[in-house]
Amino acid sequence: DKTLKVALLGAGSVGSQVVRLLSEQADDLAARVGARVELAGVAVRNLDSKRDVEIPEHLLTTDADALVAREDVDVVIELIGGIEPARTLILSALKNGASVVTANKALVAADGPALFAAAAEAGRDLYYEAAVAGAIPILRPLRESLAGDRVTRVLGIVNGTTNFILDQMDTHGADFADALAEAQELGYAEADPTADVEGHDAAAKAAILASLAFHTRVNAEDVHCEGITKVTAFDASAAAAMGSVVKLLAIAELSDEQVSVRVHPAMIPLKHPLASVRGAYNAVFVESEAAGQLMFYGPGAGGAPTASAVLGDLVTVLRNRLSGTTGVGESAYADRAVRPMSET
Ligand code: HSE
Repeated sequence: DKTLKVALLGAGSVGSQVVRLLSEQADDLAARVGARVELAGVAVRNLDSKRDVEIPEHLLTTDADALVAREDVDVVIELIGGIEPARTLILSALKNGASVVTANKALVAADGPALFAAAAEAGRDLYYEAAVAGAIPILRPLRESLAGDRVTRVLGIVNGTTNFILDQMDTHGADFADALAEAQELGYAEADPTADVEGHDAAAKAAILASLAFHTRVNAEDVHCEGITKVTAFDASAAAAMGSVVKLLAIAELSDEQVSVRVHPAMIPLKHPLASVRGAYNAVFVESEAAGQLMFYGPGAGGAPTASAVLGDLVTVLRNRLSGTTGVGESAYADRAVRPMSET
């Protein structure tokens, strides 16, 4: 029987859950893929770190470069985050003939086109469903299911940490620092939570959503961005008095063939479906010409939910490996030259 090999880069809260699922769901994965799936190695920064899930010692390495250079690796899962060394590792994985699954929103939003070009050149897949809104399937629907429709607007609550903080302020009058500490403890926040509270994490996700929704290329730098650090408990109670709730929204719009993308705190009337998104949950509200209004809702952060999206991509790219094809790729991008505006 054929065995396909997976190299994992990063064993934090998401990576640990990927290791757990690969082992616990091994039989189901084999049936769905059509081959056994074996973990070839796990690259970590520190061999002795405490992890949520035990990883067999012989699989651990601190040499990520050597792991991605291995000839027998079919897929590299990148869960290190940030631009470097993730970028270099992904490019060398593709060059060495591996497909790549990543949850790296910052990298895809900053440098997506170069990575997609490298994947196309290598004839390999680069999938990143876990990069936006954790477990929620939203990138495939925008790229594939809605490809025959015309999406006009995407409104998203795409950062679990800030939604958790704003929710704690709204429901318990909580203090910003305490709510942030709790979000960090629960594994929702980025390694440096500045990216969450200043809106940069949401801006990267907004750029990815806009790119797929409008079949164009929007870069993180094109997104006007304001975080939640100036939102006070008073704002939360004033919003409540007006029958609203404060949310950090990612907004991507297409009008007059111009795309505009922004992230900022906004008051949402309680009767809007996005107002009911509480805790670290995320939701993406999509408006399109033929389908009308759609909402995608679910856990937007955290180890196991994000690992669910990673594993889904893994099954897809492994099936493609076996059938000798690649997925839709990103060639459908840029079929309409719309210019993002930096401010709206
Ligand atoms: N820090 C992110 C969040 C993790 O809070 O949503 C998921 O991308």
